[in-house]
Parts: sequence; structure tokens; C-alpha cells
Amino acid sequence: MKKINIAIDGPAGAGKSTVARLLASRLGYVYIDTGAMYRALAWKALQRKVDPKNGPALLSLLKEIEIRLLPTERGNQVFVNDTDVTTDIRSNEVTAIVSKISQHQEVRTSMVERQQQLARHKGTVLDGRDIGTAVLPEAELKIFLLATVEERAKRRHEENCQKGIPSDYASILEDIKQRDELDTTRTFSPLVKAKDAIEMDTTNMSIAEVVERMYELAMERIRS
Ligand code: DC
Repeated sequence: MKKINIAIDGPAGAGKSTVARLLASRLGYVYIDTGAMYRALAWKALQRKVDPKNGPALLSLLKEIEIRLLPTERGNQVFVNDTDVTTDIRSNEVTAIVSKISQHQEVRTSMVERQQQLARHKGTVLDGRDIGTAVLPEAELKIFLLATVEERAKRRHEENCQKGIPSDYASILEDIKQRDELDTTRTFSPLVKAKDAIEMDTTNMSIAEVVERMYELAMERIRS
């Protein structure tokens, strides 16, 4: 059967990673969490005390590290060189600086190249902010996921609680609002819907419903 690439974009907490992982598993495709790659660099920058505002320093740090994403049933297991950073990249410290890290053009260009390499054989589902616009502008299926900011904060909070990560709804809401602001107003590849992306507002949809709809859309393209 023909293989396609699927781009899933949207703001923080819209449920991209959950539905992208489930969709990939249903199609037998590889799921690539591009946000985890920016988080991996942010983790390394914290470790090395590199200033999140210093683009060139971040780029040289990025060149030093290999970021590996291994598929598991719960999402990507993330390695920076040989260190498993899967849990650490979700920490509040990393979350607090990752939007700043991802502002820099040199960082983005290098990340986009890595992501394009990972998707070159098709049969992938990528989630992020610029997949449909910059990473895979030729993707056969592009989805732009939306949900209200309150709903997104609620989901992130519940997800943290389930994972045993300390969590506070009010600060998550603040954090998501701030990240929305940074992600949508940055100069280089800001979060915008690609012209040919299909918009889905998931505020009142279950995960299963979102995955089902995406699966139908994917199968239409695979069969065509
Ligand atoms: O999806 P996430 O919350 O794990 O993403 C972490 C940050 O990385 C987010 O604030 C924006 C940035 N990001 C990006 O700029 N481009 C992507 N393709 C993915 C994430």
C-alpha cells in the first residue's frame, strides 16, 4: 500500500502527541515528536548553562548531540547521545525555556533538516508547530488541531497527574498562554495553519473520535 506523510500542528496542549501516536500505531507508521527534539536541546542547554537567548551557542550545542527518538507504546523514548531524557525533558525547567530555545532561526533550520531526514522514507506522522509549513510542506495530509486554552490546560494538568508529575492548573494555564504568545509571534516559522491543512477543533471531541477522523482522512489519501 502507498505510504504517506502526515503533519499534525497546533498549539501547546491541543492533544497532538496523543492522537499522533495513536494514529501512527493504527497505520503502522513511525511517530516523531518534534517538540521532544526542541526539549532535548533545552535540556542540554540547561545542563551546560548555555543562555537560551544565544542562538549561535545553541546551534553549536545542537551539533554536538545526537537526538534519538525510539518508538514505544507510550510515545517516543528520547535519548541525548546515550542519556535517556524522556522524563527530564518534561520538567518545569525545560518547559520554561523551550519556547525561547525554539525562537532561533539557526536552531530551527538545523532541527528541520533532522526532521526531514527522519521522514524521508514516508510512513511517518510528525507533530509540532511548523510541520505542514516548513518541515513537510509536501505532506499528503495536514491537520491543524485546536482547542480552547482552558481545555488544553485542563488536559495537560490531568496528564501530569496521571504521570505523577507535580502539577498546578493555574500555572499550566499561564504557561500555555505564554507559550501560545511566543510560538505564534516568533519571527521564524511561527505557528500558523498551512493553507491546505484541515482544521479540527477538539474541545468537545474525545481522543478516539479525533483519531478515527484522522484515520479516515489518511486512508482516503492512501487509497487515492
Ligand atoms: O509540543 P511541545 O510542548 O513538546 O513543544 C515544546 C516547544 O517546542 C514549544 O513551546 C514550541 C517548540 N516547537 C517548535 O517550535 N516547533 C516544533 N515543530 C515543535 C515544537
